[in-house]
Amino acid sequence: MTMKNLVVATGLSFALLAGCQAGDDAQTSNQQENQTENEGQTNHSANTDETQNKDNQNNDNQEGNQDREDQKDDEKQDDSVAYPTMAETVEKKSGNLTVTNPDSIYVVANKERNLPSDFVPKNLVEPDVSSYAPKDDPKRLMVQEAATALEDMFAGAKDDGFELKAVSGYRSYERQEAIFAYNAEQRGEEVANQVSAQAGQSEHQTGLTMDISTPSLGSSLTEEFGNTPEGQWVAEHAHEYGFVVRYLKGKEDITGYQYEPWHVRYVGKEAATEVHKAGVTLEEFFSEEK
Ligand code: DAL
Ligand code: ZN
Repeated sequence: MTMKNLVVATGLSFALLAGCQAGDDAQTSNQQENQTENEGQTNHSANTDETQNKDNQNNDNQEGNQDREDQKDDEKQDDSVAYPTMAETVEKKSGNLTVTNPDSIYVVANKERNLPSDFVPKNLVEPDVSSYAPKDDPKRLMVQEAATALEDMFAGAKDDGFELKAVSGYRSYERQEAIFAYNAEQRGEEVANQVSAQAGQSEHQTGLTMDISTPSLGSSLTEEFGNTPEGQWVAEHAHEYGFVVRYLKGKEDITGYQYEPWHVRYVGKEAATEVHKAGVTLEEFFSEEK
């Protein structure tokens, strides 16, 4: 797709890159701010004392084995994560389905699942990474855990010879409202709905997301990123750092948004790795108990 048309910003002091990153704060301030019973315990009636003793011994051994198996199961359970299902994490509030876990790394916000309008993540911090966002701009921020993971990911990319740049992270409800309104005004509500989230429905409000680019593309957020070596590195390695590429090609009907190779969302290494290996969306991953 060719998405290069920078639209002049008006009162909102941001511009729209036509087509792809329309909902994201892609440009800098003057341009755009925008998841068995033991078989041995039966049929012993014919046993002599000797065989009975052996059976008792066997049963003791079997019980010992069973204890060890139970212990292993407990250890396994301790290591695995109990992921919440989407059905468990939503309630109806003022006619809208609203998520009950906005500050969880497993939160799923989408067109059907709203974040509370007054939700602001705790411990927003600025990751120590190279960014196109102006100094002190809130879009530089992410929640602490995600920020540290982003730093690790950028460092991992650098070790492999790829330079990533942060473009847009945290956005308030109000900021998203302004971005959506601007996009709707510029391109019509139908297009705006494919490229940008309505206020309360953007993952950017969770502080768990960062839009990323690379110097060859500047701060533009376009599908082209998916074809760059950097974008391909992100698609292959983001899960190792706890991120997933949230809006996948071919999954538009599920996510409700166009392909966004630049939009990475933090869910932790374990979930990200499972999501990546399964090639699924967060909607699919969190739809059933794991
Ligand atoms: N571009 C994504 C869908 C957002 O606006 O949050
Ligand atoms: Zn984004």
